[in-house]
Amino acid sequence: MTQSETSSSNLRSIRIFDTTLRDGEQSPGASMNLSEKLEVAQALASLGVDVMEAGFPIASPGDFEAVREIASTIRGPIICGLARCNDGDIDRAWEALQKAERSRIHVFLATSAIHREFKLRMTQEEIIARAVKGVERALSYCDDVEFSAEDAARTEIDFLCRVVEAAIDAGATTINVPDTVGYTTPEEMYARIAELINRVPNIDRAVLSCHCHDDLGLAVANSLAAVRAGAGQIECTINGIGERAGNCSLEEVVMAMRTRNDVYQTTTRIKTERLVPISRLLSKITGLDVQRNKAIVGRNAFAHEAGIHQDGMLKDRSTYEIMRPEDVGFAKTDLVLGKHSGRAALADRARDLGYHLNGEQLQIVFEQFKVLADKKKNIFDGDIIALIQQQISGATNTAWTLVSYRVQSGSSKTPCVELTLKHGDDTFTERVEQGDGPIDAAFWAVEKITGIKTVCKDFRVQSASLGRDAIGEVTVEVDHEGESYRGTGASTDSVESTILAMLNAINRIITEKSLRSAGKVTPQDA
Ligand code: KIV
Ligand code: ZN
Repeated sequence: MTQSETSSSNLRSIRIFDTTLRDGEQSPGASMNLSEKLEVAQALASLGVDVMEAGFPIASPGDFEAVREIASTIRGPIICGLARCNDGDIDRAWEALQKAERSRIHVFLATSAIHREFKLRMTQEEIIARAVKGVERALSYCDDVEFSAEDAARTEIDFLCRVVEAAIDAGATTINVPDTVGYTTPEEMYARIAELINRVPNIDRAVLSCHCHDDLGLAVANSLAAVRAGAGQIECTINGIGERAGNCSLEEVVMAMRTRNDVYQTTTRIKTERLVPISRLLSKITGLDVQRNKAIVGRNAFAHEAGIHQDGMLKDRSTYEIMRPEDVGFAKTDLVLGKHSGRAALADRARDLGYHLNGEQLQIVFEQFKVLADKKKNIFDGDIIALIQQQISGATNTAWTLVSYRVQSGSSKTPCVELTLKHGDDTFTERVEQGDGPIDAAFWAVEKITGIKTVCKDFRVQSASLGRDAIGEVTVEVDHEGESYRGTGASTDSVESTILAMLNAINRIITEKSLRSAGKVTPQDA
């Protein structure tokens, strides 16, 4: 498919290249372990991305393993691995990718004068020769090869045209134009893409792509400008996570094209009703919260507070709503399930929210759901998502589980927690009377039973849905032997959420330690 190809309805089909697991994972604080990456990869496949950049295989053994597992198990999208233009990187990328149903090697080389002079110390001719060699080597393994001219947005246009022509001549099937430092503007991006289309004689043999960073808050606008100029692929990430200020946000760029079809006349394969669930899944896994007023997926994105707005909405939704909340995955109605709902209804709702639970997972979530329904009158989608995520992440790596706890505290009283945990077939109980409050006491009790010493670096509570009886999600970040670990827990009771979050973090510590001693993971992957 080239950038000029159109679908039968005359809408141009735009490829969505997701790089959440590669550029996104480079965000400070966004690193994911193997099972988390697989969970996100599965959700991206269900979302309908065309290409999934699974990692940078040469970067670390953990990155290599993640790309290999994703390539072996995820079906649907093209699985892509990143490589610099050198033999070692490209060979390693192919080693990781070879089991994929469809694979792509993505080679990159910086082209701007700043990068040539200060980083690479290479001449223009040397850059062209290295780019050609890289594309050719990648092509010897795989017929889908993408070439990125790193810092293309700041590269002299005459030189950029020469590099692009040479890369296409060497066999590159996609040419990516990154705004690596988020410096360009929509007008400049439009002109750059238009000039490449007009001046590069073999441009019709490749798909032109854009890859925009958000340093000036322009990544989505710049990507849309590239599309208007004729680009056929957008590189983006869920929630816009990525290096520094992040990358172009997938949900925003997709919904902008869809909502303003009159302007862009494009289509994508994204199942937009999966946007909110995948956004929540990613923030749950990475601990990177989405701001409430974030476009498309923020909790307030469809909330109407002002009386005049509410009045207008009641008369006709189109007065103040340009998209339907259900089209991006927010529930049509707030109240969906209650204590009389059965397993099938829960499975159905989970599917609507983007989760395909297997029999065992459904059983666990259903039992928890019934317990919750007894405590809480209204079960909202947020509650269900919290339960599912809690159970899925708990079920995969749980070593310590909560049996019961009792807490006593008061304004002038030392808090007291009696905690019982299960480990394998054994149960352990401790009573702890210390700490600044019940949550601190719970920390001490968990540490005393598990014997794992941690220092709490971050502690956050947020409500998963509406009402005083909403599920509270706790996220903790703890330090253990110089490494940082995250844990999450959800319950209507904040002390219980804290204990569950602590256990989740402790179970990760145990899992990472055993993987490491088996030589499967390096410290930076944890
Ligand atoms: O921002 C950038 O230039 C990149 C390339 C590797 C595509 O991420
Ligand atoms: Zn980038």
